[in-house]
Amino acid sequence: MDPHFTEWTALLLRWFHLITGAAWIGASFYFNWLNNHVRPVESGDPDARVKGEVFAIHGGAFYRVSKYDGAPEVLPRTLHWFKYEAYFTWITGFLLLALSYWAASEAMMVDGRVSALSPMSAVGVGVGSLVLGWAVYDVLCRSPLAARPGWLSGSLAAFFGAACFGLFELLAPRAAAMHFGAMIGTIMAANVFFVIIPGQRAMVDAMVAGAEPPLERGRAGALRSLHNNYLTLPALFVMVINHYPSVWGHTAGWALVLAIAAMGVLIRHSFNLRGVGHPQPWTPAILGSVGLAVLALATQPASRAEASAAVPFAQVQIILANRCLPCHADVPIQPGLIEAPKGLMFHDRATILANRGAILTQVQSGAMPPGNLTKLTDEERETLLNWAAP
Ligand code: HEC
Repeated sequence: MDPHFTEWTALLLRWFHLITGAAWIGASFYFNWLNNHVRPVESGDPDARVKGEVFAIHGGAFYRVSKYDGAPEVLPRTLHWFKYEAYFTWITGFLLLALSYWAASEAMMVDGRVSALSPMSAVGVGVGSLVLGWAVYDVLCRSPLAARPGWLSGSLAAFFGAACFGLFELLAPRAAAMHFGAMIGTIMAANVFFVIIPGQRAMVDAMVAGAEPPLERGRAGALRSLHNNYLTLPALFVMVINHYPSVWGHTAGWALVLAIAAMGVLIRHSFNLRGVGHPQPWTPAILGSVGLAVLALATQPASRAEASAAVPFAQVQIILANRCLPCHADVPIQPGLIEAPKGLMFHDRATILANRGAILTQVQSGAMPPGNLTKLTDEERETLLNWAAP
């Protein structure tokens, strides 16, 4: 594929993905907030089906939103649905994953240090993880477990843990992290497409036909909607994790990704507790924040000061010239590149020194060279790490 075309397509897809993602998650936060803040109507409401209301002020105007217990008696002429945000977030995310990872599978999907999977099989694992992730999640939610929220949460946590571990055993670490996030995003979008919207459609159709709306379909949707709400912070975390190789590239990368995602769920839980007036709403968020601090400290790499001083700079330059300059040069010789990635060119001493920290994290995580295309040996990797380490 023409690299210029790929670059622009990826840029536009990413932008679109962020816009629709912000709209979707914004709506999810807003409606969850509404649910938590609905209070009984103070002076009684002429419409007996109204269960509660929310007053708000925003952008210089007052708002009054009513929530029905069940459905209104008459279907309003205009009913807003909130679904395209979810669909477009998923479609753009899927295309971005296909373009950035599956179409460049040799560099992005596999890592010989992790598994012997071929690039094609790795793409199969990636696609399979999205389909299977949804299938397992959906079966769990429809199983008898669903009647016991504690059991369901426990099984879902075990399932997400196993999926994350499995992906990190098979794919290059960065691809594993991104596919774990894509799996979460797929579950969220599929919840909207296969459960929430069809349930709402059934309720509206029944009302149009003059029948009682099947409220249990609405309740099933409400549960999925709540799951989506808890998955928002983990999904957002994975959207940005791409840039932090010290997390997914860590030897326990799968556990770190999972742990941070879990902290996200805890922090989200605090906001939900606060909304319903729980006496100690911030406990989960405090636990989550302490957990994050502990993770940051526990992953601090050991100092290699002595080893670092012993590495001659000329040796570093030779390794970079052989293994990095094919791409990181003013005129890269690697097919598919028109300019040095991220503008990084490792020709001169000053640039190399200025990027010492970035070289450390990229080489340590195995992200560079991508797919180890330039065959950096283990000794060379060790030399670079010794040199770049603080
Ligand atoms: C096959 C081409 C290729 C080779 C070889 C290569 N890189 Fe890269 N490098 C890239 C690409 C592509 C990116 C941009 C990655 C992205 O957008 O996430 C990049 C980005 C980087 C970054 C910036 C990362 C960031 O997110 O800011 C650093 C640092 C880096 N490479 C270091 C190295 C080092 C050190 C080597 C040699 C050991 C190396 N690269 C070898 C293609 C290569």
